Amino acid sequence: MAIEKTYNMIKPDGVKNGHIGEIITRIERVGLTIERMELAMVTPEEAQANYAEHEGKPFYDGLISYITSGPVVKMVVSGENAVATMRKLMGATNCAEAAPGTIRGDFGLTVDENVIHGSDSVESAEREIGVFFGA
Ligand code: RTP
Ligand code: MG
Repeated sequence: MAIEKTYNMIKPDGVKNGHIGEIITRIERVGLTIERMELAMVTPEEAQANYAEHEGKPFYDGLISYITSGPVVKMVVSGENAVATMRKLMGATNCAEAAPGTIRGDFGLTVDENVIHGSDSVESAEREIGVFFGA
């Protein structure tokens, strides 16, 4: 088992709808450690850097305006297999397809406003932590 760091972010709908506490509880309950946490607005520059892989896709402009639309909770989470464990807790990208018991399955309804972001690899996590917390 590898100790990893991952970048997670409670998205504007998760904050607005009052799910911060429940999400933090789920992260702590599996034994992961929240190393850093900050409530903040995402700047357009951070949004573009985080979602560069999706530039040009039909949902890109909406994604950037949504993620910058209200405060988010930025987190660095660490622990054994933190990247995959957080993706498991989050559930499928589309909340309508996410299993009950997952964060997206329990707290979201759509693919556009899907409650939480999580890095998809250790390499993405390193890059995203740099984007949102600095080197
Ligand atoms: P995230 O990066 O936010 O953790 O989500 P993810 O890995 O599960 O999904 P990804 O493919 O990286 O997509 C990034 C975000 O773009 C929005 N999206 N909309 N309308 C669509 O078809 C569509 N597809 C993706 C979602 O908000 C997704 O989280
Ligand atoms: Mg992704």
